[in-house]
Amino acid sequence: MTGESTDEVRIIAIDGPAGAGKSTVGRAVAARLGVDYLDTGAMYRAVTFAVLRRAVDPNDKQAVEDVAMTMDLDIGDVDGATRVVVDGEDATVAIRGREVTGAVSAVAANSAVRAELVERQRSWVTAHSGGVVEGRDIGSVVFPDADLKLYVTASPRVRAERRVAEIGGDVDDVEASIIERDRKDSGRDDSPLVEASGSTLVDTTGLSIEEVVEHVLGML
Ligand code: DC
Repeated sequence: MTGESTDEVRIIAIDGPAGAGKSTVGRAVAARLGVDYLDTGAMYRAVTFAVLRRAVDPNDKQAVEDVAMTMDLDIGDVDGATRVVVDGEDATVAIRGREVTGAVSAVAANSAVRAELVERQRSWVTAHSGGVVEGRDIGSVVFPDADLKLYVTASPRVRAERRVAEIGGDVDDVEASIIERDRKDSGRDDSPLVEASGSTLVDTTGLSIEEVVEHVLGML
């Protein structure tokens, strides 16, 4: 990265599997740099919420595309958490629930949905003059020319233990569902989860958030 200018549009892309610490690291890095943060997983979850609200089958490609094209999505960080409003309804809590989590992989595998959300993500970055953008395909597809591309990961066991510490549950069950979601995210045809070329691998196993954030800031 070059220059210290504050009016320079800077994009930091953070990809990696579920539960690796991307959101915590991304938010902390954005706060330290004084830039905005976008959780694109929340956008796929928001489409899934709208699909379920409209009683559409998540596997009905055309109907799901229609939802993505017509839904009103307002996403923004409030007090360090992503607030999502879908068609005027606050979906912040519901997008993290079991129903949405169970259906989101099917919606994220829909190419028309991806195309629509990629466009909205690029518009967001333009409107916010850059930022930290987190997801699965940010460095590979959405912003291949990002100033910094990170691939943040940790072992499935550690990811499961962190999730259980946050929201409870059985570590073995959570680990199994994490492995299953990784398999779906990495195995889909359109924009699978991959380490983008030019990205830096950050393995957070055994590191605290503070250590990871300092490490990332040191790369800028
Ligand atoms: O990060 P998350 O668990 O909230 O993501 C929800 C789902 O959306 C997950 O199945 C991966 C998918 N996703 C994606 O396909 N592309 C992105 N850029 C972000 C998330």
